[in-house]
Amino acid sequence: MHKNFKGTEKTVFGRGSFSQLGTIVEERRGENDGFMLYLVDNYFKGKALEKRIPATAADIVQFIDVDPEEPTTMQVDTIRDDVKGSKGIPAAVIGIGGGSIMDLAKACSLMFTNEGPSEEYQGLNLIKKPGVYHIGVPTVSGTGAEVSMTAVLTGPVKKLGLKCEWTVFNQIVLDPELIETVPRDKWFYTGMDTYIHCIESRDGILNNAYSTAFGDQALALCRDIYLGDKAGQNAENNEKLMVASLMGGLSLTYSEVGIVHALSYGLSKILGEKHCIANCIAFQHLSDYYPEGVIEFERMIAKHAITLPKNLSKTWTEDQITAMATVAINLEHMWNHAIGTDWKKTITLDVVKDLFRRL
Ligand SMILES: [Fe+2]
Repeated sequence: MHKNFKGTEKTVFGRGSFSQLGTIVEERRGENDGFMLYLVDNYFKGKALEKRIPATAADIVQFIDVDPEEPTTMQVDTIRDDVKGSKGIPAAVIGIGGGSIMDLAKACSLMFTNEGPSEEYQGLNLIKKPGVYHIGVPTVSGTGAEVSMTAVLTGPVKKLGLKCEWTVFNQIVLDPELIETVPRDKWFYTGMDTYIHCIESRDGILNNAYSTAFGDQALALCRDIYLGDKAGQNAENNEKLMVASLMGGLSLTYSEVGIVHALSYGLSKILGEKHCIANCIAFQHLSDYYPEGVIEFERMIAKHAITLPKNLSKTWTEDQITAMATVAINLEHMWNHAIGTDWKKTITLDVVKDLFRRL
């Protein structure tokens, strides 16, 4: 079976394109109860961008603290219940922020039309009705959340996405000026998430002409941004990073991620490491699986004088290592892609535990 996935309906890209958001949202004004719900990263409260949000007196602008990194099912349900109770169902949900805000906006959109607690919908295709119109305005680039079919949520029982074709944004606004103020270390780690998406998408059995075309282009952009003559955070590279994130996301959507993400999810689940840095912590030790990728990654690390945590496993208990390895090995689709359909012959819980001991 080949994947049949839904893409973003509308995309606007370019410096200053955020000023078009007002026109975009007004086209939806007649829908549902006629107001907009803006979910905005708390970082922008009091900053210049706050004044540029095209909200009217009828709209709700809610600033969100995005720590912990992944939004929770409870956070989604609370926003939905409060907004529904006070004003009804919004015409559109607009997320302005990083990957977590993207996920939150996607999840809230779905939960306005699907009854009950969001934890009941964590998984693949459990959502029953399309959500309200939702718009993603990323202010951090790299995770590919702006194009993915998943809204990752931490629930009381599991950390798992609401994944279905209605999760995908109806509209995205990609304004490279919005990522100018991303702190340098975050800029590096989130960009490496894209880089790793492309390497993992390419180095596995599900790789195909479609995923490779997007992945190769995203890799070329990453090389310019992190290794080129004009490497670093600048206007030209901010444009490139926004496109790389998008294309890396499309590449993995049509292929799959691999061992880095499997280990990274284990690290995040058990130790709470943030996704992008957890990827980097794992990737540096996986040269036997991704030889070329790790060599190039190390050049990027050196060029930007990034220091990654090492020898972490020395402080971990056997139980923690077992727990992380269990999370990782259960992501069977990733091992299947990275190693092959007979992956269970070589990848055992003990092998995965040894991979964690490298970190
Ligand atoms: Fe990722």
